[in-house]
Amino acid sequence: MRYIPFGEEKQKVSEIVLGLMRIGPGKTTTKSLSVPEVEYLLDTAYDCGINMLDNADVYANGACEEKLGEVYAARPDLRKKFFLQTKCGIRKDPGITYFDFSRDYILESVDKSLRRMQTDHIDSLLLHRPDALMEPDEIAEAFEILKASGKVLHFGLSNCTPMMIERLKKVLTVPVAADQIQLSAAFTPIIDGGINFNTQTDAGIMRDGGGILEYCAMNGIAVQAWSALQYGFFGGVYLGSDKYPDLNRVIDRIAEEHNVTNTAVALAWILRIPVSMQAVIGTTKPQRVRDSAEAASFTLTRREWYEIYMAAGNILP
Ligand SMILES: NC(=O)c1ccc[n+]([C@@H]2O[C@H](COP(=O)([O-])OP(=O)(O)OC[C@H]3O[C@@H](n4cnc5c(N)ncnc54)[C@H](OP(=O)(O)O)[C@@H]3O)[C@@H](O)[C@H]2O)c1
Repeated sequence: MRYIPFGEEKQKVSEIVLGLMRIGPGKTTTKSLSVPEVEYLLDTAYDCGINMLDNADVYANGACEEKLGEVYAARPDLRKKFFLQTKCGIRKDPGITYFDFSRDYILESVDKSLRRMQTDHIDSLLLHRPDALMEPDEIAEAFEILKASGKVLHFGLSNCTPMMIERLKKVLTVPVAADQIQLSAAFTPIIDGGINFNTQTDAGIMRDGGGILEYCAMNGIAVQAWSALQYGFFGGVYLGSDKYPDLNRVIDRIAEEHNVTNTAVALAWILRIPVSMQAVIGTTKPQRVRDSAEAASFTLTRREWYEIYMAAGNILP
């Protein structure tokens, strides 16, 4: 496993992060994992060198945080072994879901997350989806209160543009440690526009908010790729999918050459991008956790990276 330095204290966190969105009941889950099954998943991850978990208040309406809390209650050692990240800011009221980065909502959400996860602190808190009505002063105040109370140690964002982060940074008294963004070999809007800059093809349309990868690299912000194996917006897993025959052929060949699984190659493709990069995996299967961890044990060549990029249907100018 390889590690990146995270936040001000440059804490060592693994390049592969175990996401817990699918452990609870909900629309992204086929079945809910039992507490012993989650324990085994976490033990497996830890044995592979993975030391960071990603959760959110909104996953299965709090059930994914609750389940983790039950795991911690049964196995307190697991709380100490993992750097715990969760998110807030997607608000579900009866009949409507919207985004809320107000001071009071952030503070209230964190208290609920702490109770559900049966822990006294969160290592990293991300604001989940940009709130069009966000007011930086309110966010700054909430973060200061949470940091001073010891309830949250690090802060970050998710799905935010460079200018949103820049605006927040003008008033925040704590650093922004991460931006969690969707990225897989079959979902590359944050890469395409840059490569095709100033061309007249649709690939040249800038969907990266104006250089999010470069911005994060220049500002010591970790990029966390979510849905690292999916196409579209929760479209499904592209590995083994007949929607992506060329991509699978190339990935399978490279996997054979490196003597690893196709999962490892798919994630190594993300980790090859030269920023402080993490891939957040969402599997509920211990063997797939092991396969995923292998991604951080080798490096794709530049040629292999571009072969995969183009086999996904992308073009170079
Ligand atoms: N910030 C955000 O807005 C945001 C949004 C979505 C997700 N996330 C985070 O990102 C994490 C990962 O997202 P995700 O779950 O969509 O990621 P993912 O790893 O791309 O997808 C996981 C799903 O793919 C299946 N899968 C994994 N490997 C497979 C393979 N080799 N062949 C076939 N199926 C395979 C898994 O099934 P099995 O369980 O059967 O392996 C699971 O259903 C989440 O847990 C969450 O922490 C963040």
